[in-house]
Amino acid sequence: MVFNFFSTLGLFYINKMPNKKIALITGVSREMGLGFETAKQLAQKKYRVIITARDYYKVKELADRLLAEGLDVLPFALDILSDDSVENLVSKIETNFGKLHVLVNNAGGFYDAGANALDTSLAFAHEVFETNLFGAWRMIKSFTPLLEKSGEGVVVNITSGAGTYSDPDFGLISKSDTPLYGITKLALNGLTVKLAPILKTKGILINAVNPGFAATYPGYAEWGARPVAQGAKGIVWAAILPKDGPTGSFFMDGKNIGWQL
Ligand SMILES: NC(=O)c1ccc[n+]([C@@H]2O[C@H](COP(=O)([O-])OP(=O)(O)OC[C@H]3O[C@@H](n4cnc5c(N)ncnc54)[C@H](OP(=O)(O)O)[C@@H]3O)[C@@H](O)[C@H]2O)c1
Repeated sequence: MVFNFFSTLGLFYINKMPNKKIALITGVSREMGLGFETAKQLAQKKYRVIITARDYYKVKELADRLLAEGLDVLPFALDILSDDSVENLVSKIETNFGKLHVLVNNAGGFYDAGANALDTSLAFAHEVFETNLFGAWRMIKSFTPLLEKSGEGVVVNITSGAGTYSDPDFGLISKSDTPLYGITKLALNGLTVKLAPILKTKGILINAVNPGFAATYPGYAEWGARPVAQGAKGIVWAAILPKDGPTGSFFMDGKNIGWQL
């Protein structure tokens, strides 16, 4: 019940603050991760940021760090694979805020470096699709009503160069071997395209953003990864697009990079 106690306290505190745009980010369990940095940058832009992770204690500790910097963040437990967990959060946000402006589908991963598609276990493939595609899809389906209520909703799906055909380093036809990861991100790009015209009728923008190879784990920087803050900047760019901004596209660093051959 610690979760409920702190969450209630947080909501009480936050409801006393003036109206702000509300953003929700999935998969914020690590200080080095893109989710944490995106939360920080969005909160610095005066958004009220709801950060979530499966493990409440991890996300609470991260929220405390941002709160100590005077940023407006609120932690919640969320498993994007669970209908109950997602619906529980929908109902909390609906009750306390009545709407949602930004959904960042950041949770994901399972980088199967060195694998080949013929040997990939289909059981594992299902597991990765559950998170990288269906988790994001579930979030969008469940939060669309609250995003619509904001009148200017935005969805950002975090994709990857691995989900393109032609990214020279990580694309499907490059020498990089991350087949399952790449196929799930390709599917996420496809979902983004198919949902865009439907969500547009509800005043919601949806785009996929490639953060680029970012130093979210020890050793990545030595392999040429760029600073996490740089990757997150492109995510934030897409999260704060104006109402008449682009939709159904694939961006990196604010530039439409396409994802076809
Ligand atoms: N780093 C890069 O170079 C790079 C490049 C392109 C794209 N991306 C994408 O950027 C996103 C963030 O990656 P990252 O590098 O920052 O790594 P990360 O910190 O490991 O982020 C992945 C997050 O997803 C969470 N997650 C996994 N399954 C979940 C579930 N069922 N419910 C809720 N959360 C779940 C993980 O939580 P747990 O701790 O609970 O497992 C973790 O917080 C991912 O979508 C990744 O594919 C990263």
